Amino acid sequence: MKLNRIPVTGWITRVLIVSLLAGFALAAQAASGKKIVVGFSQIGAESGWRTANTDSIKAEAAKRGVELKFADAQQKQENQIKALRSFIAQGVDVIAFSPVVETGWEPVLREIKRAGIPVILSDRAVAVTDDSLYVTFIGADFIEEGRRAGNWLAKATSGKAVIAELVGTPGSAPAIDRKKGFEEVISKHPDMKIVKSQSGDFTRAKGKEVMESFLKSPDAKQINALYAHNDDMALGAIQAMEEAGVKPGKDILIVSIDGVRGAFEAMAAGKLNCTVECNPLIGPQLFDAVDAILAKKKLPKRTVVQEGVFEQAQAAAELPKRKY
Ligand code: AHR
Repeated sequence: MKLNRIPVTGWITRVLIVSLLAGFALAAQAASGKKIVVGFSQIGAESGWRTANTDSIKAEAAKRGVELKFADAQQKQENQIKALRSFIAQGVDVIAFSPVVETGWEPVLREIKRAGIPVILSDRAVAVTDDSLYVTFIGADFIEEGRRAGNWLAKATSGKAVIAELVGTPGSAPAIDRKKGFEEVISKHPDMKIVKSQSGDFTRAKGKEVMESFLKSPDAKQINALYAHNDDMALGAIQAMEEAGVKPGKDILIVSIDGVRGAFEAMAAGKLNCTVECNPLIGPQLFDAVDAILAKKKLPKRTVVQEGVFEQAQAAAELPKRKY
């Protein structure tokens, strides 16, 4: 017993000293009038979700007096890599980014590590062999979102569905994981089958275009369900269905992911059946992580954002409460 007490006390003392020093470091930075500088590389503005995510990050930076160097990559990995390199050159305090695709980041992440700049992954993960290349990842559990969509559809169709799928950006974490989670659920239902699957790149325009081609195919009549990896593609598909004389939400049941206001409006109008929430308002958590990193506090490797599932019956009551 006695032997145990000595190291524990020593450990507590060490933690207290480190926290105090870190607190002093942050206070000293504030006192010197030097602003915290964060470089953020955003994917683009492909969806309502993304716009809400950008707004949340910019608003939180402004609220905290953080200097935010924001770069929009217009959905291109090469632009993101350029932005990350320019953040290194500018010597920012912390780099955060939302990676458009999962792979291809190791070289630039190594450059950032060599420069001694901590990295936060925001919204999407990267596939790397060395997880010391980033400090923490804050974002949703995309596999679970896919499962939630699958479970809702299995219940709504009593396990009988001929499904068209609008996939997100190829190679992106949400497209890979949402497909995986959904397929995991429907594989338990022999009468649920995906008969069409194509990328709509998370945009409304592409979602519409791909749905139009699905509806023109010879076997279109058998489709009775649509699974869209985000609301924007579902909203585009709804337009395509209406133009083709198909009743969205009735002839074809629709489940999608995000929970943007437009999806709630479509549900209230009976055109969309279910949206699985993916919360974009992670600005406060992101800048809490920045503060913690600069204060040398230990952060969890992964923070999962909490989310719900909403159906048509809840839409009217939920609409006024939606923040995005
Ligand atoms: O990474 C989150 C996904 O990216 C959202 O579901 C989608 O709308 C966005 O473009």
